[in-house]
Amino acid sequence: MRVVSGIQPTGNLHLGNYLGAIRNWVSMQDEMEEGSECLFFLADLHAISMPHDPTELHSNTLEMTAALVACGLDPNKSVLFNQAQVPAHAELQWLLMGTARMGWLNRMTQWKDKAGKNREGQSTALFSYPVLQAADVLLYQATHVPVGEDQKQHLELARDIAQKFNNDFAAEDSPVFTLPDPYIPPQAARIMSLRDGSAKMSKSDPSEMSRINLTDDADTIMKKVKKAKTDPEPLPSEAKGLEDRAEALNLVSIYAAISGESVDQVLSQYGGQGFGAFKPALGELLVESLDPINSLFRGLREDTEMLQAILARGAAKAREIGTPTLDEAYKVLGLVRG
Ligand code: TYM
Repeated sequence: MRVVSGIQPTGNLHLGNYLGAIRNWVSMQDEMEEGSECLFFLADLHAISMPHDPTELHSNTLEMTAALVACGLDPNKSVLFNQAQVPAHAELQWLLMGTARMGWLNRMTQWKDKAGKNREGQSTALFSYPVLQAADVLLYQATHVPVGEDQKQHLELARDIAQKFNNDFAAEDSPVFTLPDPYIPPQAARIMSLRDGSAKMSKSDPSEMSRINLTDDADTIMKKVKKAKTDPEPLPSEAKGLEDRAEALNLVSIYAAISGESVDQVLSQYGGQGFGAFKPALGELLVESLDPINSLFRGLREDTEMLQAILARGAAKAREIGTPTLDEAYKVLGLVRG
């Protein structure tokens, strides 16, 4: 089993990232069997597909590294690095660009959402972003890719690219790439904005009130939960009563994901009560579970040298693991090297 996943170091790590992905990274790392390997990276090359501030990107990359370690990622158990220190990601992306089809990329919902009506004005990196994402996982022969629901389509594309490349260039009995399987958690795969139950919680939402950052202090968390959009109805006693109540469902789902209960179990406790009672309980639960992450993060963030050393060590290991696949890809394409 080879587990590979990434996160963009744009802004803060929020509750959606944590519940949808990072928490699973940590449990996969901790439950790993002998002979398996976990690689987790900061997708800094993806982050330059949108307009960005170089100073912020630099600082966010270290900040996100501190946040991941604070969440329980152990650089001695997992390979933790940033793409920019492993040139094979960008190289393999180029090698795969001959296989990926324009039509496939045009269908990506994230491209459509981010580009909006102004496709002509977008960077070519934003368009070919999913090919880099395919390279990220194919380079390491990933078998499992733990992600939130929003990345499912990108991973299906990675499988299509791998399959076509294998078909076109590899012998039938020795494929160059393994087809990766997305691992999407049964619960909390899509945490929604606190201000709008129809939009996902996201780093790029201009409103800070729309998300809970893992680095928020207790007062901020309580305030954001208190101000979260809801409706005037009391909570129902069963999950089906939350259909058509997106904001209420989101808050109850967050409570369930953090407490490890099902939505029905949470409702059996809070059914019939209003948000005046539920919100403080949710806020306290969040503060209690994020507090240890928060204090660890604050300590780690100060130590820039240590964070850089973690990334450099992880990158050296990643380069070693990725080299045979990259070499094979060059070879089957007929490219002369050395
Ligand atoms: P990114 O940085 O947007 O998000 C990192 C992880 O968090 C998950 N996630 C969510 N899960 C539940 N609810 C939400 N509201 C929510 N928001 C984010 C994402 O699904 C993701 O798992 N393109 C990727 C980064 C990437 C990558 C890869 C992932 C680059 N290469 C290779 C996997 C494999 C991205 O922008 O994720």
